Amino acid sequence: MSLLEQIEQIGQQARQTAEQADDPQQLAQAQSAVLGRKGSLTQLLRAMGTLEPSQRVEVGKVANQLKQELTELFAARRQALQSAVDRRRQQEAAAYDATTPALRGQIGSVHPVTAVQWEIEDVFTRLGFTVESGPEMDSEYYNFDALNTPATHPARDMQDTFWLSNGMLLRTQTSAVQVRAMEKFGPPLRVVVPGRCFRSETIDASHSNTFHQLEGLVVDYDISIANLIATMKLLLREVIGRDLPVRLRPGYFPFVEPGFELDMACQICGGKGCRTCKNTGWLEMLPCGMVHPNVLRAGNVDPHEYTGFAFGLGLTRLAMMKYGIGDIRTLTSPDLRGLVRPELLYGPPVVSPDGRKKG
Ligand code: DAH
Repeated sequence: MSLLEQIEQIGQQARQTAEQADDPQQLAQAQSAVLGRKGSLTQLLRAMGTLEPSQRVEVGKVANQLKQELTELFAARRQALQSAVDRRRQQEAAAYDATTPALRGQIGSVHPVTAVQWEIEDVFTRLGFTVESGPEMDSEYYNFDALNTPATHPARDMQDTFWLSNGMLLRTQTSAVQVRAMEKFGPPLRVVVPGRCFRSETIDASHSNTFHQLEGLVVDYDISIANLIATMKLLLREVIGRDLPVRLRPGYFPFVEPGFELDMACQICGGKGCRTCKNTGWLEMLPCGMVHPNVLRAGNVDPHEYTGFAFGLGLTRLAMMKYGIGDIRTLTSPDLRGLVRPELLYGPPVVSPDGRKKG
């Protein structure tokens, strides 16, 4: 190949790579491959000294023209690419909004007892129940007397009560809100009352002086045990996700007549019998019953006209069962690691305003 042809080829290649480079760095590389110290054209020019003087004039002219052309071409390309980069930066800066709310990290979760409480409240509000609350410091009347448990009643001994120096007490049960609710709403009524209760218990793995219950109370015409069972089965279906057999055993509570313990089929062994259910196939779920006429009377409800059912769900126990927490002290420990359950972590993955996932 003659020198002139070589120059022609270098020129063609350089024009092509300059055209194809689509960022300033690529362009700089392409430029140095031709015009740099070891570039193809530079080397050719350097070899010029070895040529015949007659040839040198002609070839030198063509080579220098090409050098001139390429130097200008690369400069023009560089400027074009650089202004494209500048434009993009400008657009990005314009799209940045300092008032956009900060991205929320996936830190923390709700407490397992709160999670269970919300879930159950949700089921009952869909059934037309109202979520009520009552005072944690309450009177002897609402906690006991109004619940058919006068001072002389032996059933008072079932609950070791914190009596306060002002004559009040720390409520031992959310049942204390039953008569308050009847006074407030009158019949018919449907309420659930989640809340903290207190008893003077010695603390161990399954006992605490502070725990959570959820009380349920329905008062209406013709309320029967069938309504009670149907409501409890629906609750279990919603919480556990499928229909479960339940059974009622007699249970004694002064404020219900008849009173029951409601058991559900053991979910560990499917009812066949295992360690968890002490080989009975049944797990104790909650105490419940038909509201005692004396309790209705205390709430200014005529027991000849209305009947009702009530139940008391141990939220603390349910949360421990649901999330596999073996020791009740875990729930109030300052070491929060025992409470972390992946399913309780806050929120869906955080998504930035432009749809890209963060963190
Ligand atoms: N308040 C009772 C307790 O803490 C539980 C209870 C039993 C609540 C029967 C009820 C019920 O509403 O009907 O031991």
